[in-house]
Amino acid sequence: MKITVIGTGYVGLVSGACFSEFGHTVTCVDKDADKIQRLLNGEIPIYEPGLDGLVARNSAEKRLLFTTDLKAAMDGAEAVFIAVGTPSRRGDGHADLQYVFAAVEELAAFIKSYTVIITKSTVPVGTGAEIKNRLQGLLDEKLYDVASNPEFLREGAAIEDFMRPDRVVVGVDSDAAKKVMNALYRPLFLNETPILFTNLETAEITKYAANAFLATKISFINEMADLCEKVGADVQQVSKGIGLDKRIGNKFLHAGPGFGGSCFPKDTRALVHSADTYGVPMRIVRSVVDVNEKRKIAMAERVITACNGSVEGKRIAVLGLTFKPNTDDMRESPSLDIIPALQKHGAVVHAHDPKGMSEAKEMLEDVTFYDDPYGPLKDADALVIITEWNQFRALDLKRVHSLMNKPVLVDFRNIYSKADMAAEGFDYIGIGRGK
Ligand code: UGA
Repeated sequence: MKITVIGTGYVGLVSGACFSEFGHTVTCVDKDADKIQRLLNGEIPIYEPGLDGLVARNSAEKRLLFTTDLKAAMDGAEAVFIAVGTPSRRGDGHADLQYVFAAVEELAAFIKSYTVIITKSTVPVGTGAEIKNRLQGLLDEKLYDVASNPEFLREGAAIEDFMRPDRVVVGVDSDAAKKVMNALYRPLFLNETPILFTNLETAEITKYAANAFLATKISFINEMADLCEKVGADVQQVSKGIGLDKRIGNKFLHAGPGFGGSCFPKDTRALVHSADTYGVPMRIVRSVVDVNEKRKIAMAERVITACNGSVEGKRIAVLGLTFKPNTDDMRESPSLDIIPALQKHGAVVHAHDPKGMSEAKEMLEDVTFYDDPYGPLKDADALVIITEWNQFRALDLKRVHSLMNKPVLVDFRNIYSKADMAAEGFDYIGIGRGK
């Protein structure tokens, strides 16, 4: 099948590459000529394990094409995915849909035979209906259907999530569109992936409900961690104790410095706002957003306390800047709240991240960056681990100790054991791990 993907951001590029791996012929379109040229040169604009190989192989086999020419890309396409950005609108947190609608209105001129227009970007409930409204008068109704096919992939595990998803959710309102969507996902039938066909509104809400629920689990366990700290309990064992209950499940119960990334913060805010417009307050999700935003800022206080109440003039080593490991993505990363807050209190910050430093350099001021994890440790008064990269799980602790001015370790991801660290002579502060 010939398909077009508009937008070569995270979701667009991964989806395009994976659909081509399924055997479809995919043309990825973007307005950013520079980005398209880089992709044509085999350069991948984001760090995502496995994506480079997938793009190279399918490009070489001419199943994956890149262009800025939407008209040419639409020629003969049976399906077009809209995978452009839906950023939080400044001020009110609504998902900004201007790029989605602009893409739809532009492509209308190039549809000459039946095509399914599919939203892959995360869009608030009602967007599919609004797309149909906007196409009235622009495109003959017989030439298209609108579908919603939200993406559930995680950064850092995107290829695996796309190729072996827990489920695929498709919102359609015609048999013709269902047939096209079935054909697109046929390779997944072989491994019996559940494909849930539903209506547009249900598919749109399912995406937000999934992210909001996962974010709720995180804020929930983060608050439990705070309580554990006060009463001498261990949140990791609480997670285990509740996670073994199959009704709860053990995933997304790692306490930490608060969730970040391009999805949870944006999508929880957007859900709160879009539900408000229907007069249905999302009280739980609103609290999740609030707990998380306050938490990220409050994390700096823990470092200050670990440094005996002041970081003024002190050297703080930070390991891990991205919002999670295996990505170069810095969007809404806790490091962007923690580091400036420490600097405001007079800290001098030295940092390392395996993949996020070029993005971090654009977003953080007055930080000294190092290419290896031991660089920032020299003469440091505290080491703060913000992101749990595997590289930081097995540091040479003797070397770490000898490099530092004071052996204070603030471990926001609980990757070390308190007892082991005490044995190595560190003053260790984890998350939710009692006294
Ligand atoms: C998330 C969802 O997991 C995907 O299913 C979804 O498709 C994606 O958003 C999206 O909407 O596009 P992602 O943002 O890549 O994926 O990352 P996650 O692995 O979900 O982590 C999000 C944040 O939560 C990170 O900051 C992570 O450190 C934090 N987290 C996660 C915790 O603090 N504790 C946990 O137990 C799990």
